[in-house]
Amino acid sequence: MKKLIIINGPNLNLLGKREPAIYGSLTFTEFFETVKQKYTQVELSYYQSNIEGEIIDKLHDVGFNYDGIILNAAAYTHTSVGIGDAVKGIETPVVEVHISNTFAREEFRHQSYISPNAKGVILGFGLQSYELAIQSFL
Ligand code: DQA
Repeated sequence: MKKLIIINGPNLNLLGKREPAIYGSLTFTEFFETVKQKYTQVELSYYQSNIEGEIIDKLHDVGFNYDGIILNAAAYTHTSVGIGDAVKGIETPVVEVHISNTFAREEFRHQSYISPNAKGVILGFGLQSYELAIQSFL
């Protein structure tokens, strides 16, 4: 069975409460439960941290023994050379996802340190972006 992990970065623990007009009103836990039930053919896990170094540690942990990583590094996408280097340094393919269409938003969200080393990028489809990323690994 394929092993996939969703890694969420800062403030994504607030999904459901945070700017619902942009990010929706579902909590990630609720969403994750429905997705887990839908994709029983994969072993799907979930990790969230607001701390840059913890996200890097997690990428190192899973980056040589998982089949796929679905990464929403949130604000760190636009700032973190460290997370970008970690994505480059591991073997497991990473699909970068964003809930919102970052290109339709402020200019600082147009830059990504993840994209150059990602297998692909899926953004702007709300929480469905995560599902499309899972499907890309099936
Ligand atoms: C986000 C987009 C980022 O620009 C923002 O900082 C986030 C969430 C998204 O999923 O749309 O926190 O990654």
